[in-house]
Amino acid sequence: METSSSTIKQKWKLCAFASIIGCFILMLCLNENHNSVRLLAFQNKNTTNIISSLEPSSFIENGKPINGTKSIGHCNIFDGRWVYKPIDSPPLYDEFQCPFIGDQVSCQRNGRPDFDYENWSWEANDCEIPRFDGKDLLERLRGKRVIVVGDSLNRNQWESLACLLYSVIPSSRAHIHVQNGLHKLFVAKDYNCSVEFHWSPFLVQLDTSQANGTKVLRLDKLVTSAERWRGADIMVFNTGHWWVHRGKFRAWDLFGYRGELAKEMDIESAVEMGMKTWAQWIDDNVDSTKTIVFFRSISPEHKGKYWCYNVTLPIMDEESYAGDSFPKPVIEVVERTIRGMKTPVKYLNITKLSEYRRDAHPTVYVAKKEKQQPVVDCSHWCLPGLPDTWNRLLYALLVFNTSRDTGAGSSSHGLV
Ligand SMILES: *[C@@H]1O[C@H](CO)[C@@H](O)[C@H](O)[C@H]1NC(C)=O
Ligand SMILES: *[C@@H]1O[C@H](CO)[C@@H](O)[C@H](O)[C@H]1NC(C)=O
Ligand SMILES: *[C@@H]1O[C@H](CO)[C@@H](O)[C@H](O)[C@H]1NC(C)=O
Ligand SMILES: *[C@@H]1O[C@H](CO)[C@@H](O)[C@H](O)[C@H]1NC(C)=O
Ligand SMILES: *[C@@H]1O[C@H](CO)[C@@H](O)[C@H](O)[C@H]1NC(C)=O
Ligand SMILES: *[C@@H]1O[C@H](CO)[C@@H](O)[C@H](O)[C@H]1NC(C)=O
Ligand SMILES: *[C@@H]1O[C@H](CO)[C@@H](O)[C@H](O)[C@H]1NC(C)=O
Ligand SMILES: *[C@@H]1O[C@H](CO)[C@@H](O)[C@H](O)[C@H]1NC(C)=O
Repeated sequence: METSSSTIKQKWKLCAFASIIGCFILMLCLNENHNSVRLLAFQNKNTTNIISSLEPSSFIENGKPINGTKSIGHCNIFDGRWVYKPIDSPPLYDEFQCPFIGDQVSCQRNGRPDFDYENWSWEANDCEIPRFDGKDLLERLRGKRVIVVGDSLNRNQWESLACLLYSVIPSSRAHIHVQNGLHKLFVAKDYNCSVEFHWSPFLVQLDTSQANGTKVLRLDKLVTSAERWRGADIMVFNTGHWWVHRGKFRAWDLFGYRGELAKEMDIESAVEMGMKTWAQWIDDNVDSTKTIVFFRSISPEHKGKYWCYNVTLPIMDEESYAGDSFPKPVIEVVERTIRGMKTPVKYLNITKLSEYRRDAHPTVYVAKKEKQQPVVDCSHWCLPGLPDTWNRLLYALLVFNTSRDTGAGSSSHGLV
């Protein structure tokens, strides 16, 4: 009796010991797995050679792959990974020298202590994306008008583009007119080129002229400032975030459509009506042999598990990350509308690549007005920073000017 009980105890001890060892080995394995996922998503490729031999202008002419890399016309530049490149990709402008960066996104000025978020470079899986070349872009934009239209995220992109171009010309050769948050203008005088921002978070009209103060979102009327879009050579639109605001953040009281007013409406239907109004205007007013129209996809926010606060590294573990910060049906409505248009629209599909960058938001480094509550901004992006990459991709699409008449390009990164 005595002996068998002690062997049972011994067996039990052995068993417990074995399980602990087992757990330990399992933990080691999981950790290893975790690391290999990281490596997969963030391989560091030595690309210095290929990039320096890539002359954008020669590339357009023949459009052929350069030694094993696919030509950009057949490559999805939105499909890729972030690579840490502190030496190769320093920011292209100095936050303290650029007059366009708003208080909301001037992170270093507002005391952000780290700046590694500035040193990541987006690399496509299938081709080399050219570096942003401000002088080259200005040359291409000679005598042209660029308009950026949308909400504060498109203002973020405009600020980046204006800084990128401003930094390559003498400041005396720039004309700046920042009326208010609604219209902003940068002109490179020697190039007679203007880059404008027009505030319009819905693209359609938010009518505040009712006598009783009721705000009506008119789904069948374009925003009144749309007259200023006319004749632009390059147009960059966005919409999305304002449609899903709720409670006190909801900007409208009623929807208006063909003379009818409605208090409630399914948001997808509302977005669909609004987008149709926009699409109709573009199809009626844009000469697609002269104008290139871009639509930028949703810029993701970081909330919940992937909050941006105190984060200094991008999300590396792609496997466990399920970015879903925005209602999919709304994105589908936008994409479907664009696909159905007569005018070819290039889709700046930056959602996924931006989802990785939860390190790149202003977080608490936002200049606060007095008495304002402390905020953690996980929506906008520090400048210099992520929107510079959006503009680099915009530049790549302009330079390679594919999806117009080559079928291959359009299917990979346009919605045409
Ligand atoms: C990348 O390639 C270049 C040219 O072959 C070489 O000089 C450089 O040392 C390489 N860098 C790394 C980090 O391997
Ligand atoms: C492509 O590779 C071949 C052989 O490796 C080389 O001779 C040629 O110069 C390369 N072309 C370019 C554009 O790099
Ligand atoms: C946008 O990019 C994502 C991720 O690369 C891809 O899954 C999606 O199909 C793209 N959307 C369009 C409309 O091309
Ligand atoms: C990142 O870039 C900045 C320039 O903005 C540079 O001063 C800094 O040294 C870089 N970070 C690292 C770790 O090299
Ligand atoms: C400057 O560009 C505008 C279009 O944006 C054009 O109407 C005008 O003629 C140009 N002026 C000169 C001097 O080239
Ligand atoms: C304000 O006027 C609109 C019609 O212009 C009406 O539909 C709405 O009910 C009015 N709101 C209030 C609070 O009276
Ligand atoms: C922020 O991160 C640093 C480094 O990971 C850590 O030491 C610090 O405690 C964090 N601060 C807060 C308030 O979480
Ligand atoms: C794009 O390509 C078409 C045809 O190849 C050309 O006519 C047009 O001028 C180009 N647009 C730009 C902005 O380079």
